[in-house]
Amino acid sequence: MRVIIEANSQQVAVKGAQFVSQQIVNKPDSVLGLATGSTPVELYGQLINACEAGRISFADVTSFNLDEYIGIDEQHSQSYRYFMNDTLFKHIDIDLANTYIPLGNTGYPEQEAKNYEAQIVNRGGIDLQILGIGSNGHIGFNEPSSSLQSRTRVKTLTEQTMYDNSRYFSPAEYQPECAITMGIATIMETKKVVLLATGSNKAAAVKAMVEGGISSMCPASMLQMHPDTIVIVDEDAAQDLSLREYYRSVERMTEKMNPMEAFQ
Ligand code: F6R
Repeated sequence: MRVIIEANSQQVAVKGAQFVSQQIVNKPDSVLGLATGSTPVELYGQLINACEAGRISFADVTSFNLDEYIGIDEQHSQSYRYFMNDTLFKHIDIDLANTYIPLGNTGYPEQEAKNYEAQIVNRGGIDLQILGIGSNGHIGFNEPSSSLQSRTRVKTLTEQTMYDNSRYFSPAEYQPECAITMGIATIMETKKVVLLATGSNKAAAVKAMVEGGISSMCPASMLQMHPDTIVIVDEDAAQDLSLREYYRSVERMTEKMNPMEAFQ
């Protein structure tokens, strides 16, 4: 795992966008794995700016989102399809036909999950996966106790995740308890992972992911076994890391040897 500590959430987004931009420049027909939630919103803003400025194009990009709620339709303002269209897709030159998000309202979620796995394989697999992390260590909606060998499937959300995401739903509104999510093994097959975490409410999960033992109780810890994972955190999310000074010195050396092209 490469751990990059940035001063604040804006710098995390800028750094994350550099990796994504570099991927698209190197391979214009990249297959990107995308995440929802609050963490990647600033990163998506950076990508929109880069696209508007003509520095990158999504014209040949395909995307697969990590997950979708079951039981609300695509037009619902809390569906992940709605979120992605609104936050990213309508602002960039991507072909919507090349944007994949599990369908949460087919009535056959297990079948949809299997189809989704097949669609990823048909498109040649995911080149770069953007991830956030839940305060309980989940990635996608792979909640603690998820099999580390899991594939795309239906998951019931934990109370912690229901609580964390309740901020998006009004009190009278139905909040889904289940989702279709890529599995841990599905995520492990992506060629490169860029995981972002910001804020002190993520500090314990980041510590468990980077410095804890590999355990299904912190599904993100499985990324220790991934050959190319970059974790980009702000100071608040990094605060519990025992080796943070070491990560900083490694990063200074890495930057010196491999200066990242400026894509800002
Ligand atoms: C989103 C997803 C989740 C979030 C995580 C963090 O598609 O799969 O794993 O990345 O819950 O959410 P935020 O960024 O809202 O704290």
